[in-house]
Amino acid sequence: MEEKLLIAKEIISKYGQKHLLQKYNELSKNDKNKLLDEILTMNFNQIEELYKSTKTKPNFENDRLEPIKHITKSELSKEQLEEYTNLGENVIKQGKLAVVTMAGGQGTRLGHAGPKGTYDLGLPSHKSIFEILCDHLKLAREKYNVDIPWYLMTSDENNEETVKFFENNNYFGYPKSAVYFFKQGKLPMLDTKGKILLDEKGMIKQAADGHGGIFEAMRKNAIIYNMKEKGIEWVFIGGVDNVLVKMVDPILTGLVIKEQNLVAGKSIVKACPEEKVGVFCKRNNRPSVIEYTEISKELSEALDENSELLYGESHILCNQFNISLLEKISENKLPYHVAFKKAKYLDENGNIVEPTQPNAYKFEAFIFDAFSLAENMSILRVKREEEFAPVKNATGVDSAETARELYKAYHHIN
Ligand code: UD1
Repeated sequence: MEEKLLIAKEIISKYGQKHLLQKYNELSKNDKNKLLDEILTMNFNQIEELYKSTKTKPNFENDRLEPIKHITKSELSKEQLEEYTNLGENVIKQGKLAVVTMAGGQGTRLGHAGPKGTYDLGLPSHKSIFEILCDHLKLAREKYNVDIPWYLMTSDENNEETVKFFENNNYFGYPKSAVYFFKQGKLPMLDTKGKILLDEKGMIKQAADGHGGIFEAMRKNAIIYNMKEKGIEWVFIGGVDNVLVKMVDPILTGLVIKEQNLVAGKSIVKACPEEKVGVFCKRNNRPSVIEYTEISKELSEALDENSELLYGESHILCNQFNISLLEKISENKLPYHVAFKKAKYLDENGNIVEPTQPNAYKFEAFIFDAFSLAENMSILRVKREEEFAPVKNATGVDSAETARELYKAYHHIN
């Protein structure tokens, strides 16, 4: 331990992060060890690069942006529907489809203390979001007579609670052997001077590295390997917070096979320029998404010749990847996007500070930055009322209330 401590001291003084051992002497033996290990394994060069990136704004000026081609599900002919359904059902019945739910986040914005998936949507049945998602898998299981493997990406913060919730609820009646959990990665949070923040205890303040971390996490946790062993060819990846998400959709699977692409995504028509959704596009001739936090007013309002939004295909976090592409993505590093957030921390005088204004940088990779590793992408435009009921906020837009109403209407519940 003494040797580790000496090396850690050397590293942090080299990188101007000496304060990281500020509380070291007061920590338990376990925490001391953990903190030293974190310092010894941390990529400080990457952290310096991340800090530098906070000084630049995303700039699309040199990017060539164009709308991307999409197929509207409701306009498919009977023959096309039949063809795609057959292609997709073949894959599902042969056990070649797996489903991943990204559930690394907490229900903070919802005012729910716990993993978002454990939130009771307020239906007469009092089902949690996890159970609602599982219902969909159970139906598919019955229809296709196959246990579709369900992988859940959790985080350090919520893994234990998530697993316990599944255990306590007997996996909602889904076979336990078909459910897998893996944790996503994390990155330290930085203050405005580039110093790594400490949490109340004096440990490094880390935050989930965004859902784009999923690929690296799938590789590091041998999930891709595990899928390949099972003969999985297609992987649907969706967020936990859409209670109408159709994780097993033969039409989406059929479309991407028919179009000979390696990735597909579902879109819905963007309701208005201000809606908080990313939009699909082509960037330098590759599929991409412009995130709502990064799109300019001008681009978000631009209209096409039919007076519809030029960038109006909203990304709803319903994407499907071929396993070969997943593997390729997992070997690449995705860029990090910067968010400026409020984060409780321990200051240099040992005081716990609870800021009222944003004070810390958080770095997140976005899943859709991986799309550009494919040459093209199939986009299936679906209906909002059938496939998109996000549970994001406590009240108002995209809240539990709006999602509950959409869910009830779709499932004919009074
Ligand atoms: C997201 C999308 C946006 C899309 C909208 C649709 C991003 C950056 N933007 O916005 O393009 O139009 O949803 O609803 O995703 N998650 C993790 N780990 C993380 C971060 C997120 O598992 O580190 C999961 C969450 O549990 C959730 C999903 O990813 O299931 C979405 O995350 P969230 O941060 O809520 O994205 P939005 O800002 O709502």
